[in-house]
Amino acid sequence: MRNLYHENWNIGSGDVGRKLADGFIELGLHVKIGSRDPNQSKITDWINKHDKEKASSRTFAETASFGELVVLATLWEGTADAIQLSNSKNLTNKIVIDVTNPLDFSKGVPPTLAVGHTDSGGETVQRMLPDSKVVKAFNIVGNPHMVHPDFPDGRPTMFICGNDEASKKIVTDDILSKFGWETIDIGGIEGSRVLEPLALLWILQYFKTGNGNHAFKLLLK
Ligand SMILES: NC(=O)c1ccc[n+]([C@@H]2O[C@H](COP(=O)([O-])OP(=O)(O)OC[C@H]3O[C@@H](n4cnc5c(N)ncnc54)[C@H](OP(=O)(O)O)[C@@H]3O)[C@@H](O)[C@H]2O)c1
Repeated sequence: MRNLYHENWNIGSGDVGRKLADGFIELGLHVKIGSRDPNQSKITDWINKHDKEKASSRTFAETASFGELVVLATLWEGTADAIQLSNSKNLTNKIVIDVTNPLDFSKGVPPTLAVGHTDSGGETVQRMLPDSKVVKAFNIVGNPHMVHPDFPDGRPTMFICGNDEASKKIVTDDILSKFGWETIDIGGIEGSRVLEPLALLWILQYFKTGNGNHAFKLLLK
């Protein structure tokens, strides 16, 4: 792991935030989870599972301020609020991995997308954080398989996108490869227009089978 990325912070205390935080701690990183309520039980339970030197929690703003690499893993409806509470200045020049999906459950399940076709959640996040390097990643799989995906047919594919080439390389080499993913970079952040509907396909299969034991793989010849 590059020295610069010896610490990592997650904005998101949900299943995704805590699962990725487990993976980052395994990689030797120090992880802080950001939350409106950093002392809520699911976060303190998570901290208690780990070495307290490496695992901690703070407010969104404190988390964003100290993080070198930040993961945005928030409920879509709360994302703008979480970014505002984080203060975009605290995220200037930092890599922000956007795991969010702009899901709309207002008509029930399976959900639809609240934004799409000519825009996306990833682009919305990049607009809210104009001075950050947003990389869309991890949004096309359920959290139990985000770290060390284990499938009989080999490594699944994580498609990523973002505007900064160096940031995508760091996310690929220092995180995704180490977690066990094959990574395909599909281009700029507007690729989120494709990756977010792909998450809907994953979710549709989840509702059809009743389990989340599936992931995508691009077959090459
Ligand atoms: N679950 C999965 O397997 C999965 C897979 C791929 C992508 N995703 C996407 O990843 C994101 C996170 O999913 P999740 O299931 O881990 O958690 P979630 O329940 O969707 O989100 C939890 C996080 O959202 C924050 N949040 C909620 N409302 C907020 C508000 N009004 N203001 C500020 N923050 C707010 C919470 O902050 P507090 O701690 O302050 O409550 C918490 O950190 C979602 O966008 C989801 O679509 C999920």
